Amino acid sequence: MEQPALQRKYIWPGMLRLAHWGMALAVIVLLVTAWLLHWTPTVATAASDYHQIAGALLMLSLLLRFWLLLTDRTVAGWQALVPSRQSVSGMVAMLRFYVTLGGAPLPGWYAHNPLWMPIYTVLFLLLAVLSLTGFFMTEHPVVLGVYLPSLHRSVAPLVGLFTFAHIIAVVMHDARGKLADVSGMLNGFRLFEIKQPEIGKGTTEHRVSLDSLKVKSWRPGDDE
Ligand code: HEM
Ligand code: HEM
Repeated sequence: MEQPALQRKYIWPGMLRLAHWGMALAVIVLLVTAWLLHWTPTVATAASDYHQIAGALLMLSLLLRFWLLLTDRTVAGWQALVPSRQSVSGMVAMLRFYVTLGGAPLPGWYAHNPLWMPIYTVLFLLLAVLSLTGFFMTEHPVVLGVYLPSLHRSVAPLVGLFTFAHIIAVVMHDARGKLADVSGMLNGFRLFEIKQPEIGKGTTEHRVSLDSLKVKSWRPGDDE
């Protein structure tokens, strides 16, 4: 007879969380101020000022995140964003979870959600394009034949779409799953559901190898 138990493990390093929340705050302010810049000429000057300030915060957070991608050997490194063969079954299970609006079970995973791994990589590239175009376009609107303000404006809605979908997704994971994923991005700890022999039923000892959790797309039951 197996009883599920929760294992709490430190997963998200402080520097990754700092980069995440810096980026999240900056992107939300950038989206709001960009909308104001476009639609409300009366506050355009103030919106432009806050857009530039949030732009500076985004560039700092992104620099920190890129530095971690290159130097970190744990979950903040670029290797953690490369899907493995096990990630494919996790991706399919995640799609099933979204399509059924949380009716199908939420699969387990180690650090980055398997379906979102490639999306996070694309997001980092889009944010780099927005930062570079935003930084240079006032002084040098045309670079190598590309009109930077147009490029800046075309990439912006993709980041808006990501932000909308990401917030809905993480709220769904937290609300429909049992593992408090959003807290993980605040305090660094993720919870893992592990099956272990029931205490008092023929055994007094139960062990779970933490290494068994370190596959990129861990699913409930994999520890048996
Ligand atoms: C404000 C509400 C937000 C909450 C509650 C939130 C929460 C989370 C959580 C729980 C994860 C881990 C998901 C996983 O297991 O894969 C995550 C990851 C991530 N989030 Fe957010 N997020 C928010 C906003 C944003 C915004 C606005 C952005 C950028 C546009 C963003 C970018 C990311 C990225 C890139 C990751 C992957 C972690 C990394 O490798 O840096 N998040 N977020
Ligand atoms: C998530 C990131 C960003 C988004 C979604 C975004 C979005 C936009 C949009 C949609 C506009 C055009 C507004 C209009 O139609 O008038 C715009 C303008 C502009 N953006 Fe961004 N942007 C981002 C990041 C940045 C960054 C990092 C910088 C600076 C380093 C920047 C600097 C500018 C500048 C200088 C303008 C011209 C308008 C002005 O402020 O006077 N943006 N942005």
